[in-house]
Amino acid sequence: MVASVDAGTLRRVVVEAAERSAEVRKVVTAALGAAPQKRSAPRSELSTRLIGQCPAMEAVRDAIGQIAGTNMPVLITGESGTGKDLVAQEIHEHSRAANGSFIPVNCGAIPGTLITSELFGHERGSFTGAVSRQIGQVELANNGTLFLDEIGELPCDVQATLLRFLQDLKIRRVGGNREITVDCRIVAATNADLQEAVATGRFRQDLFFRLDVFPIHLPPLRERGDDVLLLAEVFLDRIAMELHRPPITLSRDARSAIRSYHWPGNVRELSSKLKKAVILCDGSWLRSEDLRFLATAESNSQASPKRRGPKGRNFEPEEVALALRRNGGNVTASSRDLGVSRVTLYKLISRYGLNRG
Ligand SMILES: Nc1ncnc2c1ncn2[C@@H]1O[C@H](COP(=O)(O)OP(=O)(O)OP(=O)(O)O)[C@@H](O)[C@H]1O
Ligand SMILES: [Mg+2]
Repeated sequence: MVASVDAGTLRRVVVEAAERSAEVRKVVTAALGAAPQKRSAPRSELSTRLIGQCPAMEAVRDAIGQIAGTNMPVLITGESGTGKDLVAQEIHEHSRAANGSFIPVNCGAIPGTLITSELFGHERGSFTGAVSRQIGQVELANNGTLFLDEIGELPCDVQATLLRFLQDLKIRRVGGNREITVDCRIVAATNADLQEAVATGRFRQDLFFRLDVFPIHLPPLRERGDDVLLLAEVFLDRIAMELHRPPITLSRDARSAIRSYHWPGNVRELSSKLKKAVILCDGSWLRSEDLRFLATAESNSQASPKRRGPKGRNFEPEEVALALRRNGGNVTASSRDLGVSRVTLYKLISRYGLNRG
């Protein structure tokens, strides 16, 4: 059956199958293996979603399938850059709340004094500076999904308010006396060890139990075997397309350099390092020389094991310009792409005299 379709159709089938059904994916991938395909990965023009075939990622995909249709809270854990945001979006898109809004709240980025009003809203005049009524993020997520990112950063008093909301699904705006019922799906994520935070009293145990009903753990990229190569091929296709370059193929030694590096910044780091490598490479093959900076990053991170990301490395001006262009000049999105803080990105923009527009 599969052998009778043309290669383009087959690719589309592979990608759709890979995104929707573990079972179908296995069959089609096996058929692809037998077909005269140069690459093991589905091509990127079709896939924007969770890529990976290792057992742990299969389990993640299965878990998303099982949980999405229910209204249970989900707790996504994993190191920075492992795909927690992506999984949260997948859950939303496959859930009953898919037609509602997906409201992400970065609990670590909102100052402690503002977070209650940011989450639950406030009435006009409820505190100095509350010049008008503000609807909170929880209320905005009504009939949709509330994504509480970096939940481990939530201050203790706000944890208590959130727990009350999870128990009775009602909120009260700051300074308001009316209870408002909110029906939303809760997805939380953290790269911290919440169990340890509970043990040390930084995170409420009752809230942890409430959220930990259905945990989904994303393994670090270095534990996903050949998935790193699959991802690298898909990212290379995307990068080549963005740069209007012909397709770029990984040489054997580049594959082994990618496979043996430990990727402390996980998938985000893979994507940003490949962008740099493509800029360094001048042909249609990516060789290990184009990835030589991985060796430096490896030895730096071994010298200081606490160093988690690619922060502080040198960027080519083109690389920074490309990130800004890709994200329409948005500094937050571009800094995430590059794996640096916004402050670092602002410094790079001014150092290279770049235009954000
Ligand atoms: N399995 C995957 N397949 C394809 N792309 C992925 C995968 N995992 C992550 N990515 C991409 O890698 C980047 C980082 O992923 P994401 O933002 O979801 O990580 P995160 O775990 O939320 O990180 P952080 O803890 O820093 O917030 C994103 O561009 C995302 O689309
Ligand atoms: Mg995230």
